[in-house]
Amino acid sequence: MNYQVNIGADDQVNVKVEDLSEPLSFPVEAYLSPEYARQEGDKLWAKVWQHAGRVEEIPNVGDYLTYNIGRDSIIVIRTAADTIKAYHNVCSHRGRQLIDAPPESNGVRGNRRGFVCGFHAWRYDLEGNCTFKLDEQDWKGALSDESRTKLPQVRVDSWGGWLFINMDLNAIPLREYMDEAGDILDPFELGKMRYKWRQWVIFDCNWKTAIEAFMEPYHVAGTHTQMLNNGDYYAYSAAYGLHGVSGFDVRNTGNGVKQASTVTRAGKEGKDPRISTYELQNEIYTTVNNASTTETLVNAARRLVDELPEGTPAPEVIKHWLARAREDDAKRGITWPTITPEQQGKAGLAWSIFPNMSILQGITFALCYRARPYGDDPNKCIFETYAIERFPIGAEPKTEWVYAEATKEKWGLVLSQDFSNMAAVQRGMHSRGFRGTLPNPHQERKVTNFHRNLADYMGAGALRLLK
Ligand code: FES
Ligand SMILES: [Fe+2]
Repeated sequence: MNYQVNIGADDQVNVKVEDLSEPLSFPVEAYLSPEYARQEGDKLWAKVWQHAGRVEEIPNVGDYLTYNIGRDSIIVIRTAADTIKAYHNVCSHRGRQLIDAPPESNGVRGNRRGFVCGFHAWRYDLEGNCTFKLDEQDWKGALSDESRTKLPQVRVDSWGGWLFINMDLNAIPLREYMDEAGDILDPFELGKMRYKWRQWVIFDCNWKTAIEAFMEPYHVAGTHTQMLNNGDYYAYSAAYGLHGVSGFDVRNTGNGVKQASTVTRAGKEGKDPRISTYELQNEIYTTVNNASTTETLVNAARRLVDELPEGTPAPEVIKHWLARAREDDAKRGITWPTITPEQQGKAGLAWSIFPNMSILQGITFALCYRARPYGDDPNKCIFETYAIERFPIGAEPKTEWVYAEATKEKWGLVLSQDFSNMAAVQRGMHSRGFRGTLPNPHQERKVTNFHRNLADYMGAGALRLLK
């Protein structure tokens, strides 16, 4: 098989597909081709807003983190109580990285009042000005133009408590980039949540292979078989421009928008919802690494069978459960935002924020994923998963990024099951017998929407209609 992708070549049937409900396919070069991976740097990563961390990671003036993306490294630093700036992590003299950030790291964190280059001791202040050049007179005045020596700026902004960067100084503002996804998620006040835990790992697969494993619950039947005992996982998925959403659905009724589409729902249909709601919550909490729900929600669900009479219909059970959990949290000093069932229903289960971010949100928590290329190796990626939650002010746990091998012990049953597919999918796609992906037109539309947008950025890999 020839993995060379001809960027811009017209050997592809470039179908302008607006309706992603059609059966569609796209070529595998995006996952496999070294040339495609190299071009992603210029055509994708240098152009898009991408989350580099959480605001909570740099609370004090001088706190910084480095963010590696492909061959680029960026410093995000708090320069004043209310100002955060970002710079390319490179010294203007002869190009040493100002902060050592090897590709196999998932970032370096610390506090600096300025930067001193480790090679020839040039200095920079927090504003990026070069404040000391050893023997500057040797340049005969050529360095007096500060545009030659200032740290090259990167745009930075925040949304939902995340720090986003963009290397394209002419890019549209972040809020505009977030578009409707931002409007729909804003009521969840994700910015008030804090890390509960955060772990990362390196996979032998493309970053898209990894992040796409979290774009659809269609894989539950094949990957998380045990979960079928406590819930149904049929799902819809929908495109919102660059971004996409999925939510639970009922087979054969189309895209019902309802609260039951979210992670906060009654369990298996046909069971007593007072019991099934608890069983589902408890299963999620214990097998998804204490994430995707909270202890408050699990405990309130456990009491449902005592607090409600037999025969209470599922919507009543959910209403009662959420009301009690809200009260329980209020007693601990956690205020829930007001989110109507309609808003919750519209927000669905989980969002893909283009290109590499996934947010599975609840009113008081979110489980998030990020996948990044490992240098420009198409068969390797850096993968991060973290849980954020609302905590009483002052009671937020102290967390750090922890490298964790992809085992059940480190990640819990469900994520380890997801992880078991990563390298196998990547290897499978290399097969000369693979004809190209056949994403489910109803349940995996987030994947096709992602590739539609990716193709627009890359100028290659357009969707094809399966006739
Ligand atoms: S490369 Fe930084 S001072 Fe020379
Ligand atoms: Fe999964």
